[in-house]
Amino acid sequence: MAYYEGIRVPWVPTREELLDYIMNLAKVRRGDVFYDLGCGDGRVVIRAIKEGASRGVCVELNTSLLEKARENAKSEGIEDLIEFVNEDFFNVDLSDATVVYMYLLTSVNRALKPKLERELREGTRVVTLDFEIPGWRPIQVVKVSLPTRIATLYLYVKGISDVPG
Ligand SMILES: C[S@@+](CC[C@H](N)C(=O)[O-])C[C@H]1O[C@@H](n2cnc3c(N)ncnc32)[C@H](O)[C@@H]1O
Repeated sequence: MAYYEGIRVPWVPTREELLDYIMNLAKVRRGDVFYDLGCGDGRVVIRAIKEGASRGVCVELNTSLLEKARENAKSEGIEDLIEFVNEDFFNVDLSDATVVYMYLLTSVNRALKPKLERELREGTRVVTLDFEIPGWRPIQVVKVSLPTRIATLYLYVKGISDVPG
């Protein structure tokens, strides 16, 4: 379990059914550098590499989850294309990202917002699952029916979503 100022962000993996939607929404393609902030078992960043992203960065505080992510990437033969970072994502430089994925909490997204505004380059796509980035305008919102609930994906673009409109 990871904590940020007393806020717990447990490991709840993104459901496999959502991966196509996430890749399509972010338009993941060759040349992309795909970050998952709190990457869990690596499933999203692994999928991004399989979609053609040139490099992935899997940032995870939980050491055993990060090792699991590394094993999963290894079994797909793509571990060389992913950097595994056992660190608090607040301490990781994001300036080379072209896509950032976050399945966190609204409060954590709010706390990350100044860092995203400072470090991300114009045009970087940010996809969040279920929790918005407060104060940013989504470019697109996609609702997906799952067996037990409706999931919501938000697409933001740095330079558009963070500029008052
Ligand atoms: C809801 S899970 C999402 C996992 C993965 N992104 C996915 O979608 O399958 C959130 C993950 O973020 C990690 N996490 C929470 N706070 C973190 C922090 N400050 N730095 C790095 N990882 C963190 C947790 O350990 C957990 O694995």
